[in-house]
Amino acid sequence: MSFTDLGVPARLSTLLEQQGITTPTPIQAATLPDSLAGRDVLGRGRTGSGKTYAFLLPLVARLLGGPRATSRKPRALVLAPTRELVAQIKDSLDPLAKEAGLTVQTVFGGVGQNPQVQGLRNGADIVLACPGRLEDLISQGHADLSAVEITILDEADHMADLGFLPAVRRLLQKTPRGGQRLLFSATLDQGIDVLVKQFLVKPVTHEADSAQSPVAAMDHHVLHLSREQRLPVLVDLATAPGRTVVFARTKHGAKALARQLNKAGAPAVELHGNLSQGARTRNMEAFHSGAATTLVATDIAARGIHVDDVALVVHADPPAEHKAYLHRSGRTARAGAAGTVITLMLDDQVKDVRALTRAAGIKPTVTRIDGPRHPVLARLAPGQRTLVEGGYVATPVQPAAGRSGGGRSGGSAPARRRTPGRGAHGAAGAAGAAGAAGPGGSGGSGGNGGGRSRRRRGRGYSRPSTE
Ligand SMILES: Nc1ncnc2c1ncn2[C@@H]1O[C@H](COP(=O)(O)OP(=O)(O)OP(=O)(O)O)[C@@H](O)[C@H]1O
Ligand SMILES: [Mg+2]
Repeated sequence: MSFTDLGVPARLSTLLEQQGITTPTPIQAATLPDSLAGRDVLGRGRTGSGKTYAFLLPLVARLLGGPRATSRKPRALVLAPTRELVAQIKDSLDPLAKEAGLTVQTVFGGVGQNPQVQGLRNGADIVLACPGRLEDLISQGHADLSAVEITILDEADHMADLGFLPAVRRLLQKTPRGGQRLLFSATLDQGIDVLVKQFLVKPVTHEADSAQSPVAAMDHHVLHLSREQRLPVLVDLATAPGRTVVFARTKHGAKALARQLNKAGAPAVELHGNLSQGARTRNMEAFHSGAATTLVATDIAARGIHVDDVALVVHADPPAEHKAYLHRSGRTARAGAAGTVITLMLDDQVKDVRALTRAAGIKPTVTRIDGPRHPVLARLAPGQRTLVEGGYVATPVQPAAGRSGGGRSGGSAPARRRTPGRGAHGAAGAAGAAGAAGPGGSGGSGGNGGGRSRRRRGRGYSRPSTE
């Protein structure tokens, strides 16, 4: 079956072919006929299985050839939980939208609203948004959802979580009844029922794999160790070839770990909600480019974020629940690639980790280790360890030349780069270069760079913690 066989317009499938995407994944093959036909669809497919195109293709195909959006009234809306995910969806959408002559505007907080307002005013056809800022702009009269024909919730179960649900509901209420709705996630559970009942009409459910179907090429391990060995073991894993994503439970934990890893010679950047959007964007860019080979993140990076060739995910703190385990782990072993997932477990976490992996349907290999010299580490993360003195040093941010407000990302999507393959050497080399270019070990700033952000908030609005 090709995309064209499933009903995808040839102009769009040709674009995918140019990127080497020729055979639909199971979730794409299952959902496309219904979504292209205009039905409401609930789609569950495991992490890294191509859900983004599963909703972007029908989105563009169904808007194709229709009337252009009028000022402030988009024809389609995609909601996602984090700014990074919105930016990433935009990267996938842009070529398809361009081919179809459609315009796209991202809407999220942490950056100036003026470019977003301008884009909406110019008549953006598709709005990709985090709920908080979109509500802000609607309340200011800059956006109006009354012409939305298609609404998509990516990470739909998360968008139905307590932190997002009220805003998501208010937004959906502003879209016309009977419009098409597509809900996607790797873990679509009963949490979405309230949204389904209120906003979907005779939805078709497609589950490309069972709720607990682990990603085939994902290898799960638990390392049982003492608290003192946690950092040395992390340093060993993070300095092995390839990209590593380390998850910490708290923002402070992520920040501290990034600092410690850098100090120990593992080039790392952090990603969590305490950073300015500028720092978040720069840190993701450093991870994408290979200048930093480790990303230390809170669950803000657990959902949807795709970086090519992440070889290893480490749960430095075990996640709070099994869904978080699946999403965090899913940052590796994507699109058919292999990957390793390691949970570091202290004595007092044994019970929790057991319950967690059982609920996630995973049977990890548990190894008790006494430190970084244990042979299992070289097996799980093979290859020469590369230490970079001082770790990752962020290149200083150049003040924007000319007019103020004309900054780098201009308040639209955080810039991002596709990485042409990983290559342990490329990554290590880039890290070395970054280290050498800096002032030589500033004690490892964690790549935080720039100062605090100027937060602009709508009055009385409290933004969900992950957004
Ligand atoms: N049909 C396809 N063939 C090959 N690669 C594909 C195909 N569709 C998508 N991909 C690629 O697979 C990768 C993962 O896709 P995507 O991010 O959409 O996964 P996902 O299912 O949304 O995962 P998550 O649950 O983590 O959000 C991307 O790099 C994407 O370009
Ligand atoms: Mg996704």
